Amino acid sequence: MSDSRAWWKSAVVYQIYPISFFDSNGDGIGDLNGIHAKLDYLKDLGVDVLWLSPIYRSPLADMGYDISDYRDIDPRYGTLSDWDNLLKGVHDRGMKLMMDLVVNHTSDEHEWFVESKSSKENPKRDWYVWRPPRFDAAGRRQPPNNWRSVFQGSAWDYDEASEEYYLHLYVAKQPDLNWDNPDVRQAVWDLMNFWIDRGCDGFRMDVINLISKVEGLPDAPITDPDHEFQLASALFANGPRVHEYIKEMNRKVLSAHDLITVGETPFTHDASQLAAYVLPTNNELNMVFHFELMDLDSPRGGEHKPLIHRDWKLSEFREIIGRWQNFKRAEGFWNTTFIENHDHSRSVSRFGNDAEKWRALSAKMLAVLQISLGGTQYVYQGQELGLKNFPRSWGIEEYKDVASQNDWNRVLKQRTEADGKEVDMSDILDGFQRKARDHARTPMQWDATVHAGFTTGEPWMRVNDDYKTWNVSAQVQDSDSVHSFWKEALTIRKANDVLIYGDFVDLCPKHEQVFAYTRTLGNATALVLLNFTEDEVTLSLGSEQDWSTFQLVLVNLDAERQKVGLSEVVLLKGFEGRLFLKA
Ligand code: NOJ
Repeated sequence: MSDSRAWWKSAVVYQIYPISFFDSNGDGIGDLNGIHAKLDYLKDLGVDVLWLSPIYRSPLADMGYDISDYRDIDPRYGTLSDWDNLLKGVHDRGMKLMMDLVVNHTSDEHEWFVESKSSKENPKRDWYVWRPPRFDAAGRRQPPNNWRSVFQGSAWDYDEASEEYYLHLYVAKQPDLNWDNPDVRQAVWDLMNFWIDRGCDGFRMDVINLISKVEGLPDAPITDPDHEFQLASALFANGPRVHEYIKEMNRKVLSAHDLITVGETPFTHDASQLAAYVLPTNNELNMVFHFELMDLDSPRGGEHKPLIHRDWKLSEFREIIGRWQNFKRAEGFWNTTFIENHDHSRSVSRFGNDAEKWRALSAKMLAVLQISLGGTQYVYQGQELGLKNFPRSWGIEEYKDVASQNDWNRVLKQRTEADGKEVDMSDILDGFQRKARDHARTPMQWDATVHAGFTTGEPWMRVNDDYKTWNVSAQVQDSDSVHSFWKEALTIRKANDVLIYGDFVDLCPKHEQVFAYTRTLGNATALVLLNFTEDEVTLSLGSEQDWSTFQLVLVNLDAERQKVGLSEVVLLKGFEGRLFLKA
C-alpha cells in the first residue's frame, strides 16, 4: 500500500448545516456567530476541520446551494467580518475551516445570470447553457432535449423574452454554468482565491463531476417510459472535459496551497470512474464522496427514486465498504468515510435501529464502524448524539426541502388526475419518513429548554420531539452517552495509525449479521466486530491469528468492557460493536 501521510488524511471533519446549528440572535435561523459560540464544544469532541454548508448570499431555494453572490455572506447568517471572526476562533483552537464550493450552477438571482438572461447579445450569455426550443410534430414548443432535472420535471426552463431555454440540472432557480467558456473558469478560480486569501483551509466541491456535459446535449435513452423526461446522468456526470477542468483548477489555484479538497461525485458507482479525480499522479483533488453506500436503501434500476425505501442486506453493505477500502491503495487512492450528511436521513435510523431499546447502542456500533475504517472521517452535526429521523406522525408541512415538496406535489398531481378527489398519500409519507433529506436538517438539539436551546425565537424548522432527553447538555454530562462514546472513539482513532492507514480484510464476507474485519499496518493489527442485528450471534474467527493477544479497546456494552482475552469463538449481543488492537 501507499502510506504517504497528510494532515487531511488523519483529520476528523465535522459538517455544519448552518441554518440548523445554533441561532445567536433569536431570528430562528442558525448563524456564524452561533457557530462561533460552539467552537469549544467541537474542539472538545475531537474535531479538526469544520465544513460549512453554504453561507453565501442566496435566495435559499435549495438552502444555499443556489448562490447569488460568492463573495458575500447571506445577511441571515451574518457578515464577512463575522466570518473573519469565526475563522480566527477556529484557527485559535488549532482547527481548520472548509467552505462549500457550489459552482456547477449559481442562483438565477446571481448577477452573472441576470446579465446572461438579459439578451442573446450580452457578453455573459454564453456563461450559462442556452439552447433554442425544439418543436414536435404538432408544432408545439419543447425543451432542447429530454433530460430530467434531479428535482423533477424538465431540466430546461424557457425564457419568453429571448425565446431560448436554459439548462438547470437541479431546480429552475439553479441555472448551470457553462464550464466550456474559459471566462467562467477564470471567474471560479478568482472566487476560490478570494476565500483562500481570506484564510479558508479548503473546499468541499458540490456536484463537481457534473461540470462537463456531453457535447451536443443529446437526448437520454428512454429508461422510464412513464415519465416525459428521462434520467440523463450518463450524459452529464463525469463528462468529457471534467478532468481537464479540475486539472486546470489544481494548476491555477489549488497547487499553490496546502488545502483539504473533497469532490462530491454523485451518480457514479463505478470506482474506476472516480479514480482519476483522486490518484495523486493526476493532480486533481484529495478525495471524493461516492454515494454507493448512501444509495444502498434506494430502489435499484434505471430510475433514481431517493424517497422510496428498499431493504438491504449486510452482505451488500460490507461488499461496498470492502471494495472501496481496498480500491487502488498502492496507487494512493484515498477514501472519505461518512454515513451521514445533509442530503440523507439519519444513520441510526437507516443502518442501525432507532427504537428506544437499541438507539444508543446501534449509534455507538456505527461509530465503531466509522472510526475504524480507512479514509478521512466526516461526522455530520447531531450524528455524535445519535439523532434520529423525526416521527411518521409529522405531516408533509414539516418537510421544508424543495426535493421533498416537489416529489410530493408530483405524485399528488398524478394521483389526483387519475383518481379524483380522495387521494391516499400515506405510502409516500412512509417513504419520506425513512428517506427525506429533511431529517438531517432539523435544528441541533443543545439542551432540554424550549426549541432545544437552538433559538430563543421561532425555529425555521420544527425541532425533533425527543430533544428533552436527546441533547448535547444531557449527553456531555453522561459518560455512557453516544456523545461520550464518539469522543472516546475519536481519541482512539487519532492514537492509532493502523485505524487511519491500515490494510483492510473482511473476515467473513458472506455473513448477514456480523461485519468483522481487520486493519493491519506493520506489526499493528486492529480487529473490528459489529453485530448489525438485535439477535445474539456466535461468530467463529478462525485460527489464522492468535486472538488471545488482542486487547479490547472500545466496546458499546459496558458489561463486556471488563472482559479480557479473545478466543476463536465470540458471542456478540444485539448491536454490539467491539474494537481490539494487537500491538
Ligand atoms: C448536492 C448538495 O449536497 C445538495 O444539497 C444540493 O441540493 C445539490 N448538490 C445541488 O447543489
